[in-house]
Amino acid sequence: MAEQYLFILGRQPQLSVAEIAAVARARQLAITWQTITASYALVEGDITPDFFKQLAGSIKLAQVLAEVEYKPNIIRDFVFNYLSSLTGGCLFGFSWYGHKIPSWLKPMGLELKREIKDSGRRARLVESRQDVLSSVVVQKNHLLPPRGTEFILQPFSETRIIIARTVAVQEFAEWSERDYGRPERDSRVGMLPPKLARLMINLTQGELAEPLLDPFCGSGTVLQEAVALGYKSIWGSDIDKQGIERTAANLQWLRQKHPEWQFEEKLLAADVRQLKTQLKDIKFGAMVTEPYLGPTSRIFDIKQYQAVAKDLVSLYRLALKNLAVLILPGRRLVMVWPVFHLGAKLLYLPLVNELSSLGWKVENILPPQAPPAWCDKRGSLLYERPGQRVGREVFVLRKV
Ligand SMILES: C[S@@+](CC[C@H](N)C(=O)[O-])C[C@H]1O[C@@H](n2cnc3c(N)ncnc32)[C@H](O)[C@@H]1O
Repeated sequence: MAEQYLFILGRQPQLSVAEIAAVARARQLAITWQTITASYALVEGDITPDFFKQLAGSIKLAQVLAEVEYKPNIIRDFVFNYLSSLTGGCLFGFSWYGHKIPSWLKPMGLELKREIKDSGRRARLVESRQDVLSSVVVQKNHLLPPRGTEFILQPFSETRIIIARTVAVQEFAEWSERDYGRPERDSRVGMLPPKLARLMINLTQGELAEPLLDPFCGSGTVLQEAVALGYKSIWGSDIDKQGIERTAANLQWLRQKHPEWQFEEKLLAADVRQLKTQLKDIKFGAMVTEPYLGPTSRIFDIKQYQAVAKDLVSLYRLALKNLAVLILPGRRLVMVWPVFHLGAKLLYLPLVNELSSLGWKVENILPPQAPPAWCDKRGSLLYERPGQRVGREVFVLRKV
């Protein structure tokens, strides 16, 4: 029987789950979804640390060791027996993923450490002030196999709890290098968070050997992540020449940092509305883009929204027409559209109904086990950070 794994999901769980589903499909890996909540997904399948490393939206991957009764002595006995079955010293820690950390957990850890030492083995307990050990703490304290053990305690119901062992955590140092280490940033036009860029690329289920395009490439965040994922031929265009120069500098920097990543880039200053005439002889296997999202300042009234929406819809309509000609049939464009906040209301762009006449079909790959509230009628997935005036709606569009 296949193993069970627990994915600890990031801040946008619906996107994280869609990403896991997309990567599993792209790798032709059969997985069975067992439980999906806003903080974790329980999955059966042969999930490897390499699978996890490709993801941007999941924080930890843990192999399920047992599902036991939610009682301190039962949990304690299980952990003691598990640690006893391992060879060498015992380096371990706990992360509590329930609502409120129980008062018995810390004393239990200390008692286990004492007992293991009394049995003549070395023991070290990694503790934190937080309920959960961060990815940084897990990695820096060597809590990943084979050296250490981070026990994930995930209450599953009123009476049951899952005990799992972390096998991979998000590579915080690599993310921060590509985000803050790159030479060219332009916060004026708003950069796509690199994790969202990677997640969107994963949603395309693209083939690494086929060319990938970002037609509003800005400083090249999408292209950087495509290179890190192993795409070999990356294309970027933008109406702004300076954007193209920034992208070129960022890719040059990436090439120096990682000479092992072999890729070719083609960058051009071009208006997306004329792209099909500029790129006649090429068909793309994947497209990922965050276009111009309109003014980033607050929208104060419905009239203002209507004016902005009118301009954006006419730009996106022409972009979608051009891009449909340039993509191989059946391949995907993953695109962000803005969502505007007006008081408590969310205002969307009125373009979904035109998509099929433009050659695109909205694809929703959330598994049926996902919470019903995640399934937006528009078929998109929302990405929002608290306090943002403009949210992002992520569309997976398939060329029909
Ligand atoms: C939100 S930014 C993209 C940011 C990019 N994802 C990044 O992380 O750097 C939108 C980009 O669209 C470009 N743009 C605006 N109108 C365009 C058009 N008609 N054709 C092509 N690019 C356009 C802008 O120059 C800008 O760089």
